[in-house]
Amino acid sequence: MNNVAIAGATGAVGREFLKLMEARDFPINNLKLLASERSVGKTLEFRGEKINVEELKPNSFKGVDLTFFSAGKSRSKEFMHHAVDAGTVVIDNSSAFRMDPEVPLVVPEINPHMAFKHKGIIANPNCSTIQMVVALYPLHKAATINRVIVSTYQSTSGAGAKGMSELLNQTHAFANNEPLEVSAFPAQIAFNLFPHVDVFLENGYTREEMKMVNETQKIMDAPEMKISATCVRVPVLRAHSEAVWIETEDKLTAQEAREILESSPGIIVKDEPVAGGYPMPWDANETTETYVGRIREDLSHPKGLTFWVVADQLYKGAALNSLQIAEVLAAG
Ligand SMILES: NC(=O)c1ccc[n+]([C@@H]2O[C@H](COP(=O)([O-])OP(=O)(O)OC[C@H]3O[C@@H](n4cnc5c(N)ncnc54)[C@H](OP(=O)(O)O)[C@@H]3O)[C@@H](O)[C@H]2O)c1
Repeated sequence: MNNVAIAGATGAVGREFLKLMEARDFPINNLKLLASERSVGKTLEFRGEKINVEELKPNSFKGVDLTFFSAGKSRSKEFMHHAVDAGTVVIDNSSAFRMDPEVPLVVPEINPHMAFKHKGIIANPNCSTIQMVVALYPLHKAATINRVIVSTYQSTSGAGAKGMSELLNQTHAFANNEPLEVSAFPAQIAFNLFPHVDVFLENGYTREEMKMVNETQKIMDAPEMKISATCVRVPVLRAHSEAVWIETEDKLTAQEAREILESSPGIIVKDEPVAGGYPMPWDANETTETYVGRIREDLSHPKGLTFWVVADQLYKGAALNSLQIAEVLAAG
């Protein structure tokens, strides 16, 4: 699987693939970088070489063994069958195929075996879902989670490169007493936040919130788990945070949960009741782990537990998780 393509290479997630592939010594003979026609003529650097960005087209996948798709849902829908027909295995970062029963939805810490059941496409889950399930799964195995209530604090890069620019531009404009331009988000994000990520659905939830419900149940193979989410965009550049509340079948003390999480893959527990003794998005920037802190027994429910989860969503929520899926496949 050494001939590799990235569709959406110039995007917020696409660029992280390049960094992580270098850092992880990901095996590659040829790397093809694909984006829109706007990016033709640009080059991106990989392992000291400049690679030309090509336009994503139906015939882009000839001779490509593995493609990371990260160019948005409509491009995934439009180009996926060309990629699959050309015989490339696709790991798709968009939401286009995540709930397709034929498509495995994989988080390597949880269901690596599912990666081998692919029929050409493997879906990478939603970013806020990935970091939550990394923390939920070991607790679910230990004590069976019946119910989850989560509030997210999602960074602007979750909306792509334009989301990050909008926070920086508005902050700069504010500091210079200039008018703030709103285009990437539904409202001003600098010095503000809003409970609105993705579009509103008929049930009153947003699509992002329903992704957290449906994808969590699918990844953890727990269709009966009750989940309710409120997703909030906050003026953070990178890394999502989540306040998670769970109700378990068997009582789990805070200390038991801490010990379980400390010995679980991909997790670092940072849980000291002192200033800064908890995970924060700034500290998670460009790191590969999921951080858990503020673990405590819920005062309002005898089998309730609450905690705080932070991860770099461009890494673990997107590019890193996709690469880890490819590494699972490569390891056979
Ligand atoms: N940002 C996150 O935290 C995150 C997390 C998980 C999953 N995802 C998913 O990953 C995907 C990419 O997100 P992103 O945040 O990286 O977005 P982004 O920064 O806006 O980048 C989008 C990428 O798609 C390319 N693209 C756009 N229109 C295209 C077209 N018509 N043909 C070919 N390429 C096209 C862009 O190329 P140009 O530069 O040429 O426009 C760019 O490379 C999305 O499906 C998103 O839902 C994002």
